[in-house]
Amino acid sequence: MGLILCWKEKVLSIFKTISLAQTRKIGQAIGQQLKAGDVVALTGELGAGKTTLVKGIAHGLGVKKADETVSSPTFTLIHEYAGREKVYHLDWYRLARVEGEDAFLAEECMRSGGVCLIEWAERGRNLLPAKHLKITMKHAGPSSRQIEVK
Ligand SMILES: Nc1ncnc2c1ncn2[C@@H]1O[C@H](COP(=O)(O)OP(=O)(O)OP(=O)(O)O)[C@@H](O)[C@H]1O
Ligand SMILES: [Mg+2]
Repeated sequence: MGLILCWKEKVLSIFKTISLAQTRKIGQAIGQQLKAGDVVALTGELGAGKTTLVKGIAHGLGVKKADETVSSPTFTLIHEYAGREKVYHLDWYRLARVEGEDAFLAEECMRSGGVCLIEWAERGRNLLPAKHLKITMKHAGPSSRQIEVK
């Protein structure tokens, strides 16, 4: 179920999902709307469903078998997938701050004209372009989650 609000020209959408499958569907719908150069910053505690949503977004961007091929690049710097656009998947969980080579590579991705999907994006807030899609996920029960899109 979703709710869309507009405030000061910003659109705020809030979704409540009650299953993994629903989260993927919402991701897919978001992915279908994304364009070359877009940056999606995902925030939310451990297990909030960021990677699950990213699988759906990648699917919506045309990445084949996204459910199987997309996994969090927690211990590598970046995963790259081929969809309708190039898709870069970053995860800054292991970084206290994003700097040095990590920052350099992230900026390269954001400039490349592909779509960047970044988990734990708040760790590198200063690197994000002024215009980005901010997605905040929260636990709302054992199998439900709230997804806020700004
Ligand atoms: N409605 C739901 N949407 C998404 N995940 C759900 C939902 N209900 C239960 N889950 C469970 O929550 C977990 C979400 O894991 P996921 O890896 O997507 O989270 P994450 O936010 O990426 O975590 P991390 O910060 O560790 O990377 C999975 O184990 C999944 O089965
Ligand atoms: Mg994750």
